[in-house]
Amino acid sequence: MPVFASEPTGTSEYTSENAATIHDNALRWVLQTFGIDESSLRKSLTSGLNLCKGQKLIVTGAGAGNDLPCLAQSLEGEGVIYAQDISEQMLLVGADRYGQKLSGLGIDIYFSISDATNLPFGDSFFDAAYHFGGLNLFPDVRKGIAEMNRVVKSGGRVVIGDEGIAPWLKHTEYGEMLIHNNPLYAYDAPLSLLPDTAESVNLTWELGNCFYVIGFTVSDRLPQISIDIPHVGKRGGSIRTRYFGQLEGIAPALRDQLYADAERLGLSRVEYLESLLRKSR
Ligand SMILES: C[S@@+](CC[C@H](N)C(=O)[O-])C[C@H]1O[C@@H](n2cnc3c(N)ncnc32)[C@H](O)[C@@H]1O
Repeated sequence: MPVFASEPTGTSEYTSENAATIHDNALRWVLQTFGIDESSLRKSLTSGLNLCKGQKLIVTGAGAGNDLPCLAQSLEGEGVIYAQDISEQMLLVGADRYGQKLSGLGIDIYFSISDATNLPFGDSFFDAAYHFGGLNLFPDVRKGIAEMNRVVKSGGRVVIGDEGIAPWLKHTEYGEMLIHNNPLYAYDAPLSLLPDTAESVNLTWELGNCFYVIGFTVSDRLPQISIDIPHVGKRGGSIRTRYFGQLEGIAPALRDQLYADAERLGLSRVEYLESLLRKSR
């Protein structure tokens, strides 16, 4: 198992000697509290990846590997999974539990100990990327999401999720009980940290509306719009002229006279001002 970057032993709950057991207990508590079986939960979480046979997938923060069987199943007996985590203690258990099992299902499985905010993979290397459960505690959440976006091909899906109560529940007794129990439930879904090129974004909540799940499609360009379509009406102009063509401030009374003149002449304000300025040059 290649080691690119790892957290020193004992730095967090995930790097203690019995980290996987602690995580197993925490996961069992979550499943019992929210009354769902693990297989239904994982299916629901991973469905937004739209995986198909033969694809290459990265799982960041894969931990003890609990996401892996469901993801492997979605690849229908052929595909590649790279499972990475910053905790050696967690990932070694994951490799032990699921390495051979997944190979038996026809999946090429690789494990790498590395930092999800600095992935040791080239651009567009994967068809999809998935993360569940560690994002809120990444030192740089934006970078963690940007890295998943970077390593996925244009058109591929990225799905991320972690604790975070839906906003309409946050200040109810239900929400306050959960946040009191674990402050991570107070986190917001990091929509503002998505790359500016993200497309087909969706946000849902799982587990009693207490975990956000964001999915988006990777794209190599910003949304394509036409910024020169003229507005019909009093103001006139277009997105381009209104944004890039702003002038200095003038006397308000003069401005009002110009607007009144434009209206009298049946011109938009932009048409009238542009005609005056052209004439005066
Ligand atoms: C709650 S566990 C989730 C494990 C697994 N995804 C699951 O759902 O069972 C969170 C994992 O994120 C990992 N993690 C936290 N920060 C990380 C980082 N910067 N890079 C990679 N993994 C990280 C932790 O080591 C831990 O194994």
